[in-house]
Amino acid sequence: MKHIPVMLRECIEGLKIEPQGIYCDCTLGRGGHSAEIASRLTTGRLIAFDQDAQAIQEAGENLAAWKDRITLVRNNFRNLKGALEELGVSGVDGILFDLGVSSPQLDDASRGFSYMADAPLDMRMDKDARLSAYDVVNGWEKEALRSILFGYGEERYAPLIAAAIVRQREIKPIETTLELVEIIR
Ligand SMILES: C[S@@+](CC[C@H](N)C(=O)[O-])C[C@H]1O[C@@H](n2cnc3c(N)ncnc32)[C@H](O)[C@@H]1O
Repeated sequence: MKHIPVMLRECIEGLKIEPQGIYCDCTLGRGGHSAEIASRLTTGRLIAFDQDAQAIQEAGENLAAWKDRITLVRNNFRNLKGALEELGVSGVDGILFDLGVSSPQLDDASRGFSYMADAPLDMRMDKDARLSAYDVVNGWEKEALRSILFGYGEERYAPLIAAAIVRQREIKPIETTLELVEIIR
């Protein structure tokens, strides 16, 4: 199925793209937004970030037609400023963030983002990152788990779920997505 980038028209209008401008797509994914930006550039440049190596590789293929005006950077966008400096870029004309996980990350069960299939608790966008969901679920304090579930997930049962996770992992480590789903249920 063809991937439809989120709010594509609104994003492109909002960026007010100048053909000579420098733009950043901080969440490249498979390059849906980047393709629209790059196709509007002439002498301009698009610098596109993703921390997921697979995204960089596949977007690179999808964007081959505009490769002369795109720089792909595998990095976390929290390092944006330093990465731009390394490229000799002192300012940009527009930045896009399309935050969250991508549909390919959800579709590939082995990444551990989805609870539609049983898979190891991974959830790393950057496969070189040290911390996986397994480490968090099995190692972090109850209060930290509660805070993640409530703060990021707006989960009203966060205290109960955190307590259930801690109870279960005392019996045995929680290994897979569906084990975690069962505990939450
Ligand atoms: C919603 S998808 C973007 C989809 C993209 N706009 C498209 O049209 O295909 C979000 C992407 O941002 C990446 N991402 C999320 N947080 C990131 C971060 N802190 N640094 C770099 N990339 C990140 C993910 O790996 C994912 O590929």
